[in-house]
Amino acid sequence: MATNDRTIRLAAISDLHYGKGSQGAFQPLFADISEAADILLICGDLTDYGLPEEARLLAKDLNSSLKIPVVAVLGNHDYESGQHLEVCDLLTTAGVTILDGDSVEIRGVGFAGVKGFAGGFGRGALGFWGEPAVKAFVQEALDEALKLESALARLRTEQRIAVLHYAPIRGTVEGEPPVIFPFLGCSRLEDPINRYPVTAVFHGHAHNGTYEGRTSTGIPVYNVSHGLVKKSQPDGPGFHLMELTVTPAADTVPLM
Ligand SMILES: [Fe+2]
Ligand SMILES: [Fe+2]
Repeated sequence: MATNDRTIRLAAISDLHYGKGSQGAFQPLFADISEAADILLICGDLTDYGLPEEARLLAKDLNSSLKIPVVAVLGNHDYESGQHLEVCDLLTTAGVTILDGDSVEIRGVGFAGVKGFAGGFGRGALGFWGEPAVKAFVQEALDEALKLESALARLRTEQRIAVLHYAPIRGTVEGEPPVIFPFLGCSRLEDPINRYPVTAVFHGHAHNGTYEGRTSTGIPVYNVSHGLVKKSQPDGPGFHLMELTVTPAADTVPLM
């Protein structure tokens, strides 16, 4: 590590599923994260039913207990009530940066985020073929992969982090019943991750999946679903913590 290098501590959690009775439930965790980390990622399913009142409770707890920047993506639960735009507004007002095909740079680290989508993995992935409904389903996954690619393309940082809700690889959904694997993620999300390449990927959604996996090119992928992190590291802090080295001179690479 060179003299000017900085260490940025990144915390990641997912699937908080804030419901009407959740107020205060995560405040101790948020306080611990504020002590241990410089930036927090929340990988979707912030709310249980995608209701504005659930988002308000989460926003209140974040404001009272969390003292560091938060980057998040929405999950499928956040869409359930058709009020995801209001959920987004409430959390954005509370200071959360919500990514949906966007990228952001914080303290020299680049973040690219999308919700992602389902569709399955490898040779088992659903193909763009047949009925319009099947094509529409596959198109949604293709669109999310393209959004991730364009978000990554905009980053000029040395350290690039991908934030997803759905899994980009099969490895981190293993542990769930195999019959639901196709609904837990899609390997179309893996291509842009490998191509850029990113430093690490964080996702949630597969509550009973596997904590750590790797893409086909060896990029680490972490399933940080709240319950899974606790189960995988019973003596751990209840969130994932990663240290990144940021070289100030390399924060911004000029475009040629
Ligand atoms: Fe979830
Ligand atoms: Fe989910």
